[in-house]
Formats: sequence, C-alpha cells, structure tokens
Amino acid sequence: MKILVLNGPNLNMLGIREPEIYGSFTYKDLVSLIEDHCSDKGIEVKCLQSNHEGDLVDYIQQAYFEKYDGIVINPGAYTHTSVALLDALKAVSLPAVEVHISHVDERESFRQVSYVSYYCSKTIIGKGFDGYIEAIDFLCGNGPFN
Ligand code: DQA
Repeated sequence: MKILVLNGPNLNMLGIREPEIYGSFTYKDLVSLIEDHCSDKGIEVKCLQSNHEGDLVDYIQQAYFEKYDGIVINPGAYTHTSVALLDALKAVSLPAVEVHISHVDERESFRQVSYVSYYCSKTIIGKGFDGYIEAIDFLCGNGPFN
C-alpha cells in the first residue's frame, strides 16, 4: 500500500500554534509518528504539507499519476472553504479519509462545514495525531474499524 498524507495551511506550525487546541507536539513529530507506524506495518507513505491551496491540488493530482492507493487529508482551514480540493479528490477518485486534530464539531460555526467530507469515505475528528494513524489503518484495511 502506498499512502499520501497531506496537511494544509498552518499545520507546519503545530507545537507553536494554539497548543491548548492542537497540543505541543510539532509537525516533525507528526511525520515521525506516521513514518514509524507505516514502517512497522510495511506501508509506503509520503507526508506533504503546504500553506497554498493550489499546491494541495497539485499534490492530490500527483497521487493519481504516481499510483497512490489512498490519501489522508487534513486540509486545515481550506476544509471550510475549498471546492477546489473537493474537485481534486473527485477528479483522482482515490480512497480518501479526512482528519482533524481538534474537535471541529465543538468549535466555531464556520468550522461546521467541510467541503472535502462530500468526497471522503470517513472523517476523523478530535483524536489528535492518533487520528492520522486511524485513517491510514482504515485505508490499508488494518484497523479495528474495517
Ligand atoms: C484543523 C481544524 C481547522 O478548522 C483549522 O483551520 C485547522 C486545523 C484541525 O486539524 O483540527 O487548521 O483542520
């Protein structure tokens, strides 16, 4: 299995940004956690982060041409605004799971809309970094959720 883990704007600021919401671990810690888990499970993984919507669209398209089996996506604030990311996921038609570190369902009303959720087969919220692991295992058919 070959999985792309995509993080959107400001997720490179983990550990610095609003630690009371997102915790004190860094983006580098997140990537290490994911890479260690995937290496244990024999999953090929690539982690990418961008603050730019178009880059995220390009990465989703690349996942198709590079024959990835699935995408884990935390689009950050683009979750709540981006039809372009939804269309990119629909265009490549790869299995995808949406992850949010925080409890978006308990936050501001503008965070209650997710465009990518119209496509993603599962949305995991409020589980911190463990949500990414759950998403990867779901896509790879390894998790207790399959
Ligand atoms: C987030 C939630 C979004 O509302 C926010 O804009 C983010 C992070 C999360 O992981 O909880 O940047 O996607």
